[in-house]
Amino acid sequence: MAVVGELGQEHAGLEAIKQRALKTGAINCHIVDMREKFVQKALTSALAANALYENQYPLLSALSRPIISEALVEIAHQYNAAYVAHGCTGKGNDQVRFEACIAMLDPTLKVIAPVREWEFKTRPEEMEWAQAHGVEVPTTQASPYSIDDNLWGRAIECGILEDPYNEPPEDIYTMTVSPEQAPDKPTYTEIEFKQGIPCALDNKPMSYLDIIYALNDIAGSNGYGRLDMVENRLVGVKSRECYEQPAALALIEAHKALEALCLEREVLHAKLPLEHSWATAVYYGQWFSPLKGALDAFMAHTQQCLSGVVKLKFYKGTCTVVGRKSDFSLYSYALATYDKSDSFNHNAAQGFIDLTILSNKIWAQNRIAHNQSIL
Ligand code: ARG
Repeated sequence: MAVVGELGQEHAGLEAIKQRALKTGAINCHIVDMREKFVQKALTSALAANALYENQYPLLSALSRPIISEALVEIAHQYNAAYVAHGCTGKGNDQVRFEACIAMLDPTLKVIAPVREWEFKTRPEEMEWAQAHGVEVPTTQASPYSIDDNLWGRAIECGILEDPYNEPPEDIYTMTVSPEQAPDKPTYTEIEFKQGIPCALDNKPMSYLDIIYALNDIAGSNGYGRLDMVENRLVGVKSRECYEQPAALALIEAHKALEALCLEREVLHAKLPLEHSWATAVYYGQWFSPLKGALDAFMAHTQQCLSGVVKLKFYKGTCTVVGRKSDFSLYSYALATYDKSDSFNHNAAQGFIDLTILSNKIWAQNRIAHNQSIL
């Protein structure tokens, strides 16, 4: 029994994948459209957490694995299956994520990982095996990249990218044009959020799913959304990864800008390190863990009053927030302005400073009295 998920990836047709599975010996193949669930569950909480692993990577693969795992377990139960198989290698993060998610959903299911267990030494060896056994794979010697993609973006690794000094060749990218090729005029886009979730684009009410599709086009055609990074895998290896995540990165930028406007200072400050913990937990495959659940509860609480509009300007590979507004804005013109409508209590500042610096001042006085230098 095979399962294939529609997650908004580029593909030659899921029916063709189903045929490939049947030809390879599967008794049936379930095609599951997971997009709505992916958006409602994974991408909603990822945006609430502004999820960026190591401050850069918006986690496209890590976010899809729990959704795929849920379908695998559900279908395994339908068929009373005792085993779930996956095709991840023994060096990557995805084996950990699948196995962690499956174990947390049903610890009695056993996992088979042929690509890991059959001890293929190299990728060409895997490709040879596939060819000899009539298994069609998209990888060729000329284009040996390992690619994973979905609505949230595309990850490309292997081949010439394995030398981190090699500039990524232009042909690895399909969702973004190069900034050099992007139009010479900027594109402006307004994103509206309701309780932290995108709900309209340029004043047109749209589902979060449709906004992601539209923004992948707008941002991608302006050359925005590419990442080239060396990242720390869970299994201890550093790897060079290239990503293109136009909508994901643009939405996170916009969402952060709205939070800067609407979240109370201490909430925002507490949220920043927790965002980092959220992204790390999810990268590590801990989607169904109690830590991730608790972090989600914090994030969800912060999104209750996060409604408003953010204006983005895309231009030759950049995405700049150029405006934000909200009924829940905590920005006060009267407090911020330096003109005559200023309502800030300047007299209170002196006493505030005296007390804020008091403990350090006492320490400094003591240090100077003892002739100690600061370092
Ligand atoms: N390094 C990323 C992650 O662990 C992407 C992995 C995607 N896989 C791939 N075959 N390119 O989430």
